[in-house]
Amino acid sequence: MPSGFCRLRTNASAVRESTPPNRFSKYQPSPLGNFQPIDRTENFSLKKPKLGIVGATGAVGQEILSLLSQRQFPFKQIKALASARSLGKELPFEDSVLTVEEARPEAFRDLDLAIFSAGGDTSRELGPQAVSRGCVVVDNSSAFRMDPTTPLVVPEINPDALDRHNGIVANPNCSTAVALMALCPLHERFGLRRFFCSTYQAVSGVGTTGLVELEEQVKAWAIGEAAMPEAFPHPIAFNLLPHVDAFRDDGYTKEELKMRNESRKILDIPDLAVSCTCVRVPVFRAHSIAINAEFTKPVNVPDAHAAIEQFSGVELRDDPGNKIYPMPIEYSGVEPCGVGRLRVDHAFDNGLALWVVGDQLWKGAALNAIQIAELLVEKDLV
Ligand code: A2P
Repeated sequence: MPSGFCRLRTNASAVRESTPPNRFSKYQPSPLGNFQPIDRTENFSLKKPKLGIVGATGAVGQEILSLLSQRQFPFKQIKALASARSLGKELPFEDSVLTVEEARPEAFRDLDLAIFSAGGDTSRELGPQAVSRGCVVVDNSSAFRMDPTTPLVVPEINPDALDRHNGIVANPNCSTAVALMALCPLHERFGLRRFFCSTYQAVSGVGTTGLVELEEQVKAWAIGEAAMPEAFPHPIAFNLLPHVDAFRDDGYTKEELKMRNESRKILDIPDLAVSCTCVRVPVFRAHSIAINAEFTKPVNVPDAHAAIEQFSGVELRDDPGNKIYPMPIEYSGVEPCGVGRLRVDHAFDNGLALWVVGDQLWKGAALNAIQIAELLVEKDLV
């Protein structure tokens, strides 16, 4: 691995060097840094939930297991759940192994909290079953996000929405979560009116199959062979696909509409105008988003910088003269999102252009879900 892939990060949140390797770790440029275990026990009183991870064998499920350990999430018991195909499979976890159980309704009977990352169909089928057995669900799929009675939460942005949960809490779309980590502090400072954006989405957004497909196509290309696309509609190696999720009749994809609808719900701006183009790129992990935003109040770069710097969960990487801006390679396997290329956008009266990068498997999925779970426990809502 070229040495440039490993950058010493002193200001990123703690990432443990001794994290047990999972099967996706080779796609993750190892973030260095001195891991300081976070003592979370003092925030959690004595409550430790019985926890289930649905989709524990998948790309996001594996990240959830790593992060639960890194963040020292307090639990009384943990259950790894997946499809019947994985029954009995052993997953390394901390100093031991978890034996995978089939995710069936009865599996939730003795659980307090379950994090679902097994796709919308599984969430729709098993989420309500879990709730009816007294288990609170944090759901990574899009199944319940736009249900008006289900909170859609980014803990740094709208933590109070959790107080109204009905048993299910939805985790936002990965690109939306990353984009809003940059837009929320700017909205608080300048008042967001509308935004345009283009996403640059990593292949791991579709799960394990995307990672494997990019790697195989690169290897095939290197030896002059062709590799047939399966996870994506066209070759992804050395290519860009302006196609993420299914197309709708109006020409947008579902993913592009998620950016608009979920931004409105999370920021609580019901009439927010958003236009988004989602692009799949040959990057293993971490999504990047170019944003052009218009605000109600006059903007300036120093105040925008200050707003980003003061917001939890993002860091400013904006020194283009010294070639410093956030890139997916640096933001793979780290907790904060990086914001850079901040400049006044002259196409608007009060406009800012910016670039934000975040690990979609973490802030866009596993990390955000665990942060929600931590808050639910802290607020005694489990
Ligand atoms: P399994 O490994 O048994 O198929 P990814 O997004 O990386 O493809 O992972 C999808 C995850 O969702 C896997 O853990 C997968 O389990 C799980 N999954 C898929 N279908 C079901 C199902 N019907 N019930 C429970 N888990 C499922």
